[in-house]
Amino acid sequence: MLICRSVSECRDAVAALRKQGKTIGMVPTMGFLHAGHMSLIETAQSQAEAVVVSIFVNPTQFGESADLDAYPRNESGDLAMLREAGVGVVFLPEVDTMYPPGDETIVETTHLANVLHGAVRPGHFRGVTTVVARLFNIVQPDTAVFGEKDYQQLQVIKRMVADLHMPVTIIGAPTVRETDGLAMSSRNVRLSAEDRAAALVLSRALDAAQASTATGTTVATLSKIITDTIAAEPRASLKGLDIVAAESLTVIDGPLTGPTAIMISVAFGDILLIDQRVVTP
Ligand code: PAJ
Repeated sequence: MLICRSVSECRDAVAALRKQGKTIGMVPTMGFLHAGHMSLIETAQSQAEAVVVSIFVNPTQFGESADLDAYPRNESGDLAMLREAGVGVVFLPEVDTMYPPGDETIVETTHLANVLHGAVRPGHFRGVTTVVARLFNIVQPDTAVFGEKDYQQLQVIKRMVADLHMPVTIIGAPTVRETDGLAMSSRNVRLSAEDRAAALVLSRALDAAQASTATGTTVATLSKIITDTIAAEPRASLKGLDIVAAESLTVIDGPLTGPTAIMISVAFGDILLIDQRVVTP
């Protein structure tokens, strides 16, 4: 496994793989890897002959520096997992490498970045698209895999790639969960034992909402089920609830007529957890 820290090392590693005729899959991450990331890597390995994983805690997508500083890191543990998984190249840039001194270029999906979760986290998706566009320019993968857990992120990346004619196929992969239903996240380790137990309210709320679709439901009913379920957990505070058409992410109303994404963000103290479910009436 090649570990690259500079752009030129990464480009040389990819060029060597290309010379062997290999297709390239990419999985961008912020590290502190868990089974959710590893499932994306497996998907990438099934789609491409060589896989590049990037690990970069991207400062421009964090709102508060406290959140950035608290983001967990474990480089040696991550590298051991990637080696074990048979990953060919790991790209581990420094902040100055991704954002060269004097840099001023941003990439933004002007509408999608600023609605839903983007409305409560100003600048977040602009940071994501800016760094992913830079990563794609460095690695130039044929395919890249993103998790459906970050549902809006996946749609934002697909929009950026279509709009900028980037020659990369974006693949969405299903959410991997702990056995009790909590979506795996690098943030979960920061939860106190009490908040970790209370965090099950996210999947419980989504389960209850989904169950209501069996008998026909409306956006208002789904909204009430989610709001009531989260409100019943005193440690949790509902920060975002969006019920939207699954692909366009346009806000819908009335009875459900097609695939619908329910996206929630819930705070436990200063830790924000997200989850989503696509339901079909
Ligand atoms: P990070 O949170 O490290 O996630 C990296 C990838 O793993 C994302 O595509 C995310 O959706 C996926 N992922 C996280 N938890 C998952 C789970 N439980 N099941 C399946 N997939 C999961 O998302 C980012 O980093 C950053 O925004 C990034 C795209 C790297 C840009 O900085």
